[in-house]
Formats: sequence, structure tokens, C-alpha cells
Amino acid sequence: CGGTRRDDSLRIGCALYTQDDTFISTVAQNLEWMVREAERETGRKITLFTADGRSSQATQLDQVDRFLARGCDVLLVNVVDRTAAAVIADKAEAEGVPLIFFNRQPVEEDIQRWDRIYYVGASARESGTLQGQLVLDAWREDREALDRNGDGVLQYVMLEGEPGHQDSLLRTEYSIKALTDGGVEVEKLANETANWNRAQAAARTAHCLEEFGNRIEAVFANNDDMALGAIDALADTPRERWPLIVGVDATAPAQEAVAAGQLYGTVHNDGRGQARAMLNLALALWAGEDPGEAVDLEEGHYVWLPYRPVTLENLEELRREQEETGPASY
Ligand code: BGC
Ligand code: CA
Repeated sequence: CGGTRRDDSLRIGCALYTQDDTFISTVAQNLEWMVREAERETGRKITLFTADGRSSQATQLDQVDRFLARGCDVLLVNVVDRTAAAVIADKAEAEGVPLIFFNRQPVEEDIQRWDRIYYVGASARESGTLQGQLVLDAWREDREALDRNGDGVLQYVMLEGEPGHQDSLLRTEYSIKALTDGGVEVEKLANETANWNRAQAAARTAHCLEEFGNRIEAVFANNDDMALGAIDALADTPRERWPLIVGVDATAPAQEAVAAGQLYGTVHNDGRGQARAMLNLALALWAGEDPGEAVDLEEGHYVWLPYRPVTLENLEELRREQEETGPASY
């Protein structure tokens, strides 16, 4: 599918850091679905090219080059390595093609390189704070159940996403800050990197269980896949000895785990809202309209989707909303 373009259709090139990521693949599915819907509504042809970067920045740079060679009108980039954002920005600017980064946030400087560069995402800090507040509420409601050794201190394990990712750094920091700001004393038993990955998180948690046994009172996971990995590792442990587990994303399997009482809570990462914002931005840019009319733009470059805490109490509400408004399970 090479060569120059022959029609006036909208061509969108979407580069994913990897397709093998639960949250990212749901964003991509939603985008696909919304593109078909927009075609029906506008009566114009819209082509969405999606590329899987397979966690390699070199691969993704080739994919970006190919999108530009194919005459894409807008690029959506979920950058593999945040420090490569400047290179991608310069390529897009040289071709005059607007660029929307999403989910993996480049530094401010890179976003400011050109006035047609945008970032669509959600505040990493907010997700951390909301996750910490879930645990703070549990502590206040039933401290005896959570503080199992009765020492007045919360002993916890942190499961971290990829090093250097804004969501790993800030969720790790702000989840704990919400507890200490709430007056809870905490003790970190372990910080384990599991790269957003369920199997890695299961292995790390199994290791922590060997080392700390039931001294672990809470497990904070930077995302739901890792929270589910912790749950996998606890399969042979009687439920009354499980620590309290929290995640972020509210993916479909995590919602099941909340319903089953295995996952105490999660924080909804609005992948559907992010896909919607990217498409609306792309359509506005293509039509030469003011992007600020199409989406809520902050500082001319940023679109922020809100996070929302999810527990058994409001799970049904979230599910109903999702059924009413879109495709798939996200
Ligand atoms: C999500 C993770 C995902 C990561 C990928 C985060 O915002 O919460 O589930 O693995 O983005 O960049
Ligand atoms: Ca304790």
C-alpha cells in the first residue's frame, strides 16, 4: 500500500508502542470503530493505518516514515520511547503533517516544538491520587481488616510499570502520597518493576509472597494487568489472607475481578474518550477548522480526559454507561 495519494480521503496513521498491551489495544479498537462511524456520518472515506511498534523505537520510526510516504494527513503516535518524541515531531513538521501523541507523554519541550503537535491523555498524577484514596477509604472504613498485624502502619508492595513512563513514576508517588496526606503511616516492603505485564507481575508477587508472607497488607499496581498478575500469584492462598489489591485502567478483566471481589478497586482510564478526542482533533485539523472548537484544548496542545475511581459500589454504573455508548468492553 505505497505510493502517493489519488483521492481526497482522510488518511490517519496510528503508531502503537505495542499492540500487545491491554489498554492500548482497546484504544485502538475504539478508534477503529469510531472511524467507521465517522465515515457513515460524514459520507467521506477515512482510512486508518495502524502499526504495531513491538516495543522497538527503531521499528516505530520506520513506521512513521512509511505513514508520511503514504501521504497520511494526520499521525497518532503512542511513542515507544518518550525521548524519541523530538525526532518524530521534526519528521512530521518537515512534511507539514499534524501530530497527536497519546498515552505516553513526551516532555513539554517536545510538545512545544511546533504548533500542530498535540497530546491526548489523562493526568498520571490524578490516577495515582485516586488509587491511593481508594485505599485510604478502606483504611478509614475498616482499619482492623486492613492493618492485619495491628501496628497502625500499612505494609505494602508496589508493582510498577515500565521505568521512565509518566504513569509509573507518578502513580507510584501519588498513590502513597494520598495515604500519607490522609495521615496514614506506611511501610514499603518492596518496589517491583513488572513493565505493565501480567505474567511479570505474577512472578514478582510470588517472590514477594515467599519473602514477606502475609505481612503484605496492600498491593498497589500501576495498572490492572499487573493487579491481575498479583491475583494470579495468590490463587493458592486462602482468600482471608489476601492483601487488598488495587489497579488502574478498569479493563474488562479487571471489572470482572472487582465483581468477583478479588480486586478491591481500580481507576477508570478513559481509553474510549481518548480515541474520541483524537478522532475529533484529526477531523478538525483535516477540515482546516479550529481544533479548540472540536476538543477541550489546554495551552493550545493538551487534551486531558478525567480518571474515575471504580469499586463494587459503582461498577454497575460504569458498565451500563459503557454498554450504552460504544463498542467492545471499554
Ligand atoms: C495504562 C497501562 C498501559 C500503559 C501503556 C497506561 O496509561 O494504564 O495499562 O500499559 O499506559 O503506555
Ligand atoms: Ca500493619
